[in-house]
Amino acid sequence: MLIATLIFALAAGTESVLASARTSPTAAPQYHTLPSLRDQAAVQDAWRAERKTIIPGLLEKHGADAWLMSQREYAEDTVFWSLKAATQFSSRRRTTILYVPGNSSVLGRSAAVTARTQVLADPASGLTATEFYWIDNTPGLWTEMQAVLAAVDPARIVINAAEDLAFSSGMHAGELAAVKRGLGSPWAGRLVSDTPLLAIEFVATMVPSRLEWYRRLQETAWAVISEAFSSRVVAPGSTTTADVEWWMRDRLQAQNMTTWFQPSVSVIPPGGSFFGAQADALTSAATIQYGDMLHVDFGITALGLNTDTQHLGYVVPPAGHPLRATSGKDLVPAGLRKGLAAGNRLQDLTRNTMSRSIGRSGNEILQDCRAVMDREGWKGLLYSHAIGDWGHAAGAVIGMTNLQDAVPVLGDLPLLANMYYSVELLAEVFVDEYNATMTFPLEEDIYWNSATSTWEWVYGRQEKFHLVLPEGESAGPALALEEL
Ligand SMILES: *[C@@H]1O[C@H](CO)[C@@H](O)[C@H](O)[C@H]1NC(C)=O
Ligand SMILES: *[C@@H]1O[C@H](CO)[C@@H](O)[C@H](O)[C@H]1NC(C)=O
Ligand SMILES: *[C@@H]1O[C@H](CO)[C@@H](O)[C@H](O)[C@H]1NC(C)=O
Repeated sequence: MLIATLIFALAAGTESVLASARTSPTAAPQYHTLPSLRDQAAVQDAWRAERKTIIPGLLEKHGADAWLMSQREYAEDTVFWSLKAATQFSSRRRTTILYVPGNSSVLGRSAAVTARTQVLADPASGLTATEFYWIDNTPGLWTEMQAVLAAVDPARIVINAAEDLAFSSGMHAGELAAVKRGLGSPWAGRLVSDTPLLAIEFVATMVPSRLEWYRRLQETAWAVISEAFSSRVVAPGSTTTADVEWWMRDRLQAQNMTTWFQPSVSVIPPGGSFFGAQADALTSAATIQYGDMLHVDFGITALGLNTDTQHLGYVVPPAGHPLRATSGKDLVPAGLRKGLAAGNRLQDLTRNTMSRSIGRSGNEILQDCRAVMDREGWKGLLYSHAIGDWGHAAGAVIGMTNLQDAVPVLGDLPLLANMYYSVELLAEVFVDEYNATMTFPLEEDIYWNSATSTWEWVYGRQEKFHLVLPEGESAGPALALEEL
């Protein structure tokens, strides 16, 4: 039965898909296992140290003379989670972190400052910045910070208190009031929140050494989906979509990994709406039947990283069944294969447009893509987002399901390099076999390849349906040949 999970139906068919480099992995995806918790912490702390070396350059780029984050236990600034050590599970007491440009380690050695200090050096630019880190619950904190600020004399002290951007607005309202009162004049008057990109760029930046593990997590996500959408898990006529969702949760737990959202499995109906089917699946799970096109939206959380994948599957009816596709060796109806290929075309459009668009806004990228879709008559929706420390991470969004012209605020952000993105979209295609238009939602994660200045698939992208094969049926020689 294992062999059933190795087989996907060939779906690539159009010139544009064949013209692009082969991006659909040919070998079956494998499960990866995590090292011991202690080793995981070491891996994550090395990534953290690597990312912190960008802080000197970010302070300069964003004109910050200081960057101040302050929080009370359980009311953390959003950026805290990207700065914390692996063995920190929350902030403690009042935890206050201050960055200033340059090497001010001498202040950290003065009797008046008890903060832990660390000098961050960017090997690329030679720039440095100093981190002051207080865990305190006495007014002495403010006296010490005043002493540091007096020595540094920053004109602009950036805080994360933007109005509409979650990753740049993590300073709690009460804490902001406490900081203003504690620092007093003139420092309270120098707090600014007009530089939201400082926090966003820090949280968004994915350092190169993360990629190796990110790829393993993506492959593991594919492995879970491949197994879920196979006859090992699905028995047509009795297994429900909810059964598959919970199987995926348990399978992740067995892998010592978790998720950032409940997996969603649904049957995409001919003619019906995908979002409607997804919403219905929340309240009443469908029993999976022969001939169903399955959809899954699935994410893994491990090592402080998140993945986001949407794939399609097909439940192959047994030989002799009226729904069995009759077109030669293909087990999936041609109309469905055409739909997946159309989704692949929108993926290429999004990824290639993004490769030309570093520094441009998410809305400009969206409008470029929509113009091509209008010209070529391609129907669908685009809604890509940043991913990494969070499932929906810091950075420009490129469309949302309900906003296909422009997305306020989040769509105005610039596309940055050195990020991970989730290319998320759906194609709408008329399927002759069902005399109906169907939606083909797909999602796959990409990373910025600085060597080629292009966005690349982290693991690959789906070009063939996952197949739930009928009992007793495994991949025939015709399919094996097709693989070549
Ligand atoms: C910072 O300056 C101190 C001397 O004040 C020096 O010992 C230390 O090496 C410097 N650190 C960096 C990273 O430049
Ligand atoms: C999960 O963790 C447990 C306890 O450490 C360990 O015995 C098991 O082998 C791990 N499973 C995997 C797939 O890594
Ligand atoms: C296809 O659907 C249209 C309307 O949805 C209907 O008018 C037509 O008769 C259908 N064709 C077939 C062959 O069922």
